[in-house]
Amino acid sequence: MALDIVIMAAGKGTRMKSARPKVMHRLAGRSLLQHVVDTAAGLKADRTVVITGHGADQAEAAFAGAGLAFVRQEPQLGTGHAVQQAVPQLHDEGTTLILNGDVPLIGAGTLARLVQACGGKSLALLTVVLDDPTGYGRIIRSGDPVGGTVEGIVEHKDATPAQRHIQEIYTGVMAAPTAHLKRWLAALKNDNAQKEYYLTDVVAMAVADHVHVVATHANDETEVLGINSAAQLAELERRYQRRIADALMEAGVRLADPDRIDVRGELVCGQDVEIDVNCVFEGRVELGDNVRIASHCVIRNCRIEDNALVRSFTHVDGEKSGARIGRGAEVGPFARLRPGADLGEDVHIGNFVEVKNSTLAKGAKANHLAYLGDATVGERVNYGAGSITANYDGANKHRTVLGDDVHVGSNCVLVAPITVGAGATIGAGSTVSKDAPAGQLTVARAKAQSLAGWTRPVKAKK
Ligand code: UD1
Ligand code: CA
Repeated sequence: MALDIVIMAAGKGTRMKSARPKVMHRLAGRSLLQHVVDTAAGLKADRTVVITGHGADQAEAAFAGAGLAFVRQEPQLGTGHAVQQAVPQLHDEGTTLILNGDVPLIGAGTLARLVQACGGKSLALLTVVLDDPTGYGRIIRSGDPVGGTVEGIVEHKDATPAQRHIQEIYTGVMAAPTAHLKRWLAALKNDNAQKEYYLTDVVAMAVADHVHVVATHANDETEVLGINSAAQLAELERRYQRRIADALMEAGVRLADPDRIDVRGELVCGQDVEIDVNCVFEGRVELGDNVRIASHCVIRNCRIEDNALVRSFTHVDGEKSGARIGRGAEVGPFARLRPGADLGEDVHIGNFVEVKNSTLAKGAKANHLAYLGDATVGERVNYGAGSITANYDGANKHRTVLGDDVHVGSNCVLVAPITVGAGATIGAGSTVSKDAPAGQLTVARAKAQSLAGWTRPVKAKK
């Protein structure tokens, strides 16, 4: 039996007071629409149609190549009107699952249950009971407000004071028999408070047609919360983060404060990991056993191996090529690792040191105020304070190769391409633009002179 999915994402989101379309705002690093699309993908639908309108170009560009069909709704005349636009894309039989692009945390299991409850025959509504149902469509039941049969949905703005007391609300998610749905959509009217074509009016039509209406309850409130404002977005972000923090602690990760961590992607932790307050993890981050992350670090796309220590205010951005901090390495405070930073075992990177596209072998150290870009650094190299690789000639990037046991003094400029042989020493303050031989001292600076009999100037007397 065919399964089609329609995701409504055309609304302006007036209450966000933003130029960006609402569904493109981010929750935990992914757009609201991305969350819904990712979850929907788990259902292996025959067709997934996204209804765009406000900011359609932005939304469509973000999902180019994702295998979705886009249909534009211009102008936006309500949720029923939105789904009407998708009708030509839907199969004639089977089930259509309708999702709200602004309800990002809906669970895959809940959706599967809803599709099952529909079975291509019944109209299945996802509902939830809320302490504060203000603003939502209310589920109207005959007789018993809990166990009675569903008769319809009344929007908050159209509800009577008595109906507004109903706490069971429609979450914006339904699964409908496609053939019936197409017929109901064609019959929608906009005679309501908002002069909109309400998708929710199909419920009363189903009842009139003697199609069975089932209300399936959501697992929890968080999965069905919709985003309409910046405050709601922030609130849902905190709930989502708390869920991740709880799962991490459940797995034994020691968080200094579960309310002060942000995971905007995937954080995989080994045993005995400790994370201090206010750290942000983005993309995919792997932490090995006994890794300690001190406070205020931002870490994106990086693998940190067993026993490594990252001190406060370190910024790691592996971007696409990733970054690695080896076993037992120590990084920070105030260090910056960029894409392709590959630190071996026991490497030390200290304050205000930037490393990009460089490999540091076991035991290498750059402890203060330095830059290593496009470098291959051997074992036990000591890279002095204030030294830099001049890796860019204004047009091309060049490599710097430092052999094992090289010592680079303070404040050196290594003009790449350059190779410094194993065991060589570069004298402090040198600008070196040709290869330095192994085992020797290379110095490139003016010799110090001392002038005997020189006196300091004194202030002229008036
Ligand atoms: C809708 C439901 C309400 C439910 C609530 C749950 C209707 C009439 N009401 O109300 O019963 O409790 O969701 O969150 O369906 N959209 C379009 N085109 C439009 C209008 C909306 O694509 O013309 C999209 C929006 O982008 C959004 C979704 O549909 O993703 C819901 O629209 P919104 O205006 O937020 O509906 P609610 O008033 O919240
Ligand atoms: Ca609305």
